[in-house]
Amino acid sequence: MPIEWNEKEKVFHLSNGRVSYIIQLVLGKYPAHLYWGRQVKTRQSSSILAFKGRAFSPTTEPKDPKFSLDTLPQEYPAYGNGDFRSPAYQLRSADGSTITEFVYNSHEIFQGKRPLKGLPAAYIEDDSEADTLIITLVDSLLGVGMNLHYTIYRDLDVITRSVSFEHLGSREVELHKCMSMSVDFHQADWDWLHLHGTWSRERHIERSSLHHGIQTISSARGASSHQHNPFIALLSRNTDEEYGDVYGVSLVYSGNFQAAIEVDSFQTTRLSIGINPFDFTWLLKPGETFQTPEAIMVYSSDGLGGMSRTYHKLLRTRVCRGVYRDKTRPILINNWEATYFDFNEKKLKKIADAGNELGIELFVLDDGWFGRRDNDKSSLGDWVVNRKKLPNGLAGLADYIGKKRMQFGLWVEPEMVSPDSELYRRHPDWCLHVPGRRRTPSRNQLVLDLSRKEVCDYLIDTLSKVFKSAPISYVKWDMNRNMTEIGSAALPPERQRETVHRYMLGLYWILEKLTERFPTILYESCSGGGGRFDPGMLYYMPQTWTSDDTDAVERLKIQYGTSLIYPAITMGAHVSDVPNHQVGRTTPLLMRCHVAMAANLGFELNIDKLSEDDKTLVAAQIQQYHQIKDLVCFGDQFRLLSPFAGMDTAWMYVSPKQERAVVFYYKTLATPNPPFFRLKLRGLKREAMYKVNNDDKVFFGDELMQIGLTLPLIKKDYSSHLYQIEKVN
Ligand code: DGJ
Repeated sequence: MPIEWNEKEKVFHLSNGRVSYIIQLVLGKYPAHLYWGRQVKTRQSSSILAFKGRAFSPTTEPKDPKFSLDTLPQEYPAYGNGDFRSPAYQLRSADGSTITEFVYNSHEIFQGKRPLKGLPAAYIEDDSEADTLIITLVDSLLGVGMNLHYTIYRDLDVITRSVSFEHLGSREVELHKCMSMSVDFHQADWDWLHLHGTWSRERHIERSSLHHGIQTISSARGASSHQHNPFIALLSRNTDEEYGDVYGVSLVYSGNFQAAIEVDSFQTTRLSIGINPFDFTWLLKPGETFQTPEAIMVYSSDGLGGMSRTYHKLLRTRVCRGVYRDKTRPILINNWEATYFDFNEKKLKKIADAGNELGIELFVLDDGWFGRRDNDKSSLGDWVVNRKKLPNGLAGLADYIGKKRMQFGLWVEPEMVSPDSELYRRHPDWCLHVPGRRRTPSRNQLVLDLSRKEVCDYLIDTLSKVFKSAPISYVKWDMNRNMTEIGSAALPPERQRETVHRYMLGLYWILEKLTERFPTILYESCSGGGGRFDPGMLYYMPQTWTSDDTDAVERLKIQYGTSLIYPAITMGAHVSDVPNHQVGRTTPLLMRCHVAMAANLGFELNIDKLSEDDKTLVAAQIQQYHQIKDLVCFGDQFRLLSPFAGMDTAWMYVSPKQERAVVFYYKTLATPNPPFFRLKLRGLKREAMYKVNNDDKVFFGDELMQIGLTLPLIKKDYSSHLYQIEKVN
């Protein structure tokens, strides 16, 4: 049984044969954290927890003075009863006090996993895939129940956690903090790792040793953000790509989040993730329930690579949804970097024609097709086609594209409004704002108030009309600013600090409705590139525009960092023009292709203006991409060389049966008179024999993995090589 309840010892043991997670109800009432990690045997008795009295550690149990919440490793700790560390939650009662005492009331164990109301979450397709434990604690004075939800997947080393607060009492309470999970480890000699960045430099890896006190990453931008990804990991000090214990936690949420680690004076490490408590409160009235977002927790004893492959599989198959979930994606051409706002039907057709000749399958019309949108100063909100640019409307252009047997895709930025727009003139109170205060623009736009139902309904209706107006098979959903003056004209004063979370619920509602209504569209989310690359958005849209930075060298770091959690099938990657528009760098077309081919391949340049030689190269790369795209999309990824460590980057994707693989190797700056270099592969069968690039020579898997693939001497900056590996019988 994957979840065992030992009544006598009051121990819950969640396990799937590889991973264990153990909780003990100490004194029958406090859920203590005993263990999370590599599987341990279930025992009838466990005496792991020992209490030792400590000076200044108060006790809630006068009969057992050694007991203190201050030193107890806990599952969901509070502040105020003797634990002086950061609490997992805080609640303010009607009398103004924040003291609570939630104690065990009941529990439920069942096969399967329930969806979270109104929120994206990991799912199952059959009850046999996962098992769930819900521990209910109650604060009898407040009449509030707290449900701790745990699900363990049988075939993946994943545990999901979330919490719901149920008000069964009579006086309203206010939630001030409610993390989605919290775990106390009896150890502090860890490194911690997270992904940081900014616009066009997203998800760079940062790893440091833990220090005493609190270390935290967060977003207060109204989006998961370019700056920090809602993910954090603890690693044993020796961890690399292949070896070491890794504990990753990722939040299925696209708004303000906080991930925190606290090391106390007894070398206990408290790890938590959830909605950012800063500037957040939620009024819970009698009869109401509040559900936190879900945290996805992954344990790996196979280093960072093991953690990533588990996240990849879970996100790809049990977070992403829709008809494209298990399909490779069409190769696209997007007109943004080719034309920006300056286009007409003729220009677009030229790009589509040239793309079509080279084998591109989808044409995407980006920003500038609606209202009076000739620059970024106006028209967001006015989703009516600009007939000056497109005299035959979207349908006319889509029709032309369709006749070429290409698909047609469209860019929208629905969550925003330009002050210079018909929508804003009609509904000036529909944006986030605080009465009497300035409405601070960013990229000349304001944010629509999606905490309001009528705004959400309006968007569902308007977008449905646009999506129906032409044969649209792909939508790029953009969002190009963060929130300021956060307030809603529709909420009472005591609920103003709910606005951002209500916005997220509104956004998820819109996405649920639209994906339900238009299930065959391939959706790509975007927020100035990767400003909202998170599992929450992936639940609705199975891919994300990874970054506005299309420079091949910069992309190595971005795609490498992103791959820590997100599989290649979720990353949009485009070949763009040189000198690159973001960094001015000139890289060879082959390297640009090889970088983009390691994810969902696309193009974003005046492809009609390429030289004949370049066109031949592009056509050949597209052909090769067709041969390898199933590996990139569905294979197991192994990162071989990190761009954060030097001039070489390499990664490979291996088919689930280890019969085929594709290896990408990139050299940014060449070294004079370089040493011979062998690239050690991974993930192959040791005893199997493989051909490399269809060459006559045959290698055993262990040779390729332990001795390595001999690379050519590289004498040029920005070189790249792609190797197709195939098992021979
Ligand atoms: C930001 C996106 O990331 C770009 O790809 C492009 O769509 C622009 N917005 C359009 O305004």
